[in-house]
Amino acid sequence: MKFVFLSGSFHSSSCSLAILKCVEGFFDAHEVETLVLDDLPFYSEDLNVEKPDEIKRFLAKMESADGVLCCSPEYNHSIPAVLKNAIDWASRPAFNSALKDMPVSIITQANSPVGGARAQAHLKLVFDSTLSKVHICHEMMITQVSTIFDQDMNVTSEKVLDRLARHVADFIAFTSLARS
Ligand SMILES: Cc1cc2nc3c(=O)[nH]c(=O)nc-3n(C[C@H](O)[C@H](O)[C@H](O)COP(=O)(O)O)c2cc1C
Repeated sequence: MKFVFLSGSFHSSSCSLAILKCVEGFFDAHEVETLVLDDLPFYSEDLNVEKPDEIKRFLAKMESADGVLCCSPEYNHSIPAVLKNAIDWASRPAFNSALKDMPVSIITQANSPVGGARAQAHLKLVFDSTLSKVHICHEMMITQVSTIFDQDMNVTSEKVLDRLARHVADFIAFTSLARS
């Protein structure tokens, strides 16, 4: 199967990107790709008529995916704009977009003791509106995220690695069932 990864941040020391890089290893023989979202223009009805090339490329990748894994920080108790914008692009035409019936799993992370729980709840609400199949699972939130990495942004916390491996295995099974 083919999975695309959507990150909620793209700066050089992004915890979200580092976690996605880590979980790539748990997808075994499946194809995975982290999509670039920070070059997508803001959604506009005008651009949706004459779609720019980067939007066409993004939508083609979304359409060819069997499943979507998001990893995101929480911004002001909600979803970072870069990720929400990508979901908005992928959500058209309404109720019949690339996201319809798409298996979607969510990981949030923060330094706070709640691990981006509000962003996670908001992402579920947003994906519900697109008729995606949101992964039913133990919610995957990572608290005190800055403590889980070594200096090269490799995840070294055994506890978090175990939880991530279990989460990914469960999501692959969920996607396989949804696609069968
Ligand atoms: C604009 C902004 C708003 C933030 N708001 C929250 C918040 O509401 N709750 C929270 O736990 N952390 C908040 N943070 C902290 C980030 O979620 C946290 O540092 C996260 O680990 C950054 O992830 P990243 O490295 O993938 O960008 C905020 C950070 C920024 C830049």
